[in-house]
Amino acid sequence: MSGTYTVAVAGATGAVGREMLNILEERNFPASKIIALASSRSAGMKLPFKGAELTVAELREDSFQCVDLALFSAGGGTSEKFAPHAVKCGCVVVDNSSAWRMDDRCPLVVPEVNAHALAGHRGIIANPNCSTIQMVLALHPLRKAAPIRRVVVSTYQAVSGTGQKAVEELDRQIRRMFNMEEPEVSVYPHRIAFNCLPHIDVFLENGYTKEEMKMTKETVKIMEDPKIRVTATTVRVPVFYGHSEAVNVEFERPLSVAAARAALDKAEGVVVLDDPARKIYPMPIDAAGKDEVFVGRIRQDESCDNALNLWVVGDNIRKGAALNAVQIAECLVRDGLTRIADKGTFLR
Ligand code: A2P
Repeated sequence: MSGTYTVAVAGATGAVGREMLNILEERNFPASKIIALASSRSAGMKLPFKGAELTVAELREDSFQCVDLALFSAGGGTSEKFAPHAVKCGCVVVDNSSAWRMDDRCPLVVPEVNAHALAGHRGIIANPNCSTIQMVLALHPLRKAAPIRRVVVSTYQAVSGTGQKAVEELDRQIRRMFNMEEPEVSVYPHRIAFNCLPHIDVFLENGYTKEEMKMTKETVKIMEDPKIRVTATTVRVPVFYGHSEAVNVEFERPLSVAAARAALDKAEGVVVLDDPARKIYPMPIDAAGKDEVFVGRIRQDESCDNALNLWVVGDNIRKGAALNAVQIAECLVRDGLTRIADKGTFLR
C-alpha cells in the first residue's frame, strides 16, 4: 500500500465493516496499512482487500497503538468502551454507532452538509444514523432555497441496517415460507418476511422509538438549526438493501416544485429521479450499491401552505454508514485534522 495512514476498521466482519473495507479500497484511501478488528469469535478470519487478505484480530484496548484513524462499526457498547482508548493512543475515531452522536464534544457530520464541524474535533467524530444521513442530504439544498419549519417523515428501512444477522434472517424466513415451513423469528420481535414492523430500536417514554428520536435530534445537530421540528415514524420493511423515506417538508415561505428540483439537481451527492409519466422514481433496488441519494415524487403538499412532499432513497450501508464514514476520514486527511491535542478527553 502506498499511503501514509495506518487505518483500523473495528467491526470489520459485519455488514458495515465489510463495506468500509470495500470503500477504502474503491476510493484508494491513502492507507499504508489496514488493520481489521472484530470480536474474539472472528480472530484469525481472512477478509479480502486489494487482491490480498487481511487477518482479523481481536479488538482490544491496546489495538490502536500506531493507528492514525479508526472506523468503528461494532455496536454502541463496543464504541463506548474502546473509542476512548483509541483516542488515548492518538488515533482519530469515526464512529458509526449512536454512542457518541449527541455528545457535545463530538461533531456529527455529513460532509456535504457540515464538514466545517470537523474543525476542532477532540478525537471522536460521530457518523449519523443511516436514515438521518439520506434525509439531511435532501433537506440541506432545500433549506438554502427556503428556511425549513417542520419535517414529517415516515421511513421504510431495509433489514441490513440491523446487521448481517438480519439479512440472513429475512433470507431464511422467505425460503422457509416458500417451502410451507414455519419461519424462525429471532432478530426482530416478529416475522419480517412479508411484513412491516413499526418498531426500530427500543420504545421510549414519549411513545416514539429511539430510532425516531435519533432522526429528530440528529437532524437539528447536523443542520445546526434548533428551529427545525422533525417528527418521524420509522418502519422496518422486508427489503435487503436501501432505505426509503416519505418526507413532508414545511417551509417558512413558499418554495415551488421547480425551485426545489433545481436546488436538488445542483446538490452534491443527490440525484433527482422524478418523471412519473415514464414511471421513473427512486427505488431501493436501484439505489443499492450506489453512492448517491435519490430524490423523486417532488410535489406540492395540497393540504398545507408552503409544504412539499419528497420520496428519498439511499443505500443505507454505503451513504447511510460506510461511505459517509470514509468521506469523513477523507475530509480529516484533506484538512490536516488527523492530530489530537488532548488525548485524554474521553477517559476523564
Ligand atoms: P464478530 O463478527 O466477531 O461478531 P453486524 O452489525 O453486521 O452484526 O456486525 C457487527 C460487527 O461488530 C462485527 O464485525 C462483530 O464482530 C463486531 N463486534 C460485535 N461485538 C463486538 C465486540 N464486543 N468486540 C469487537 N467486535 C465486536
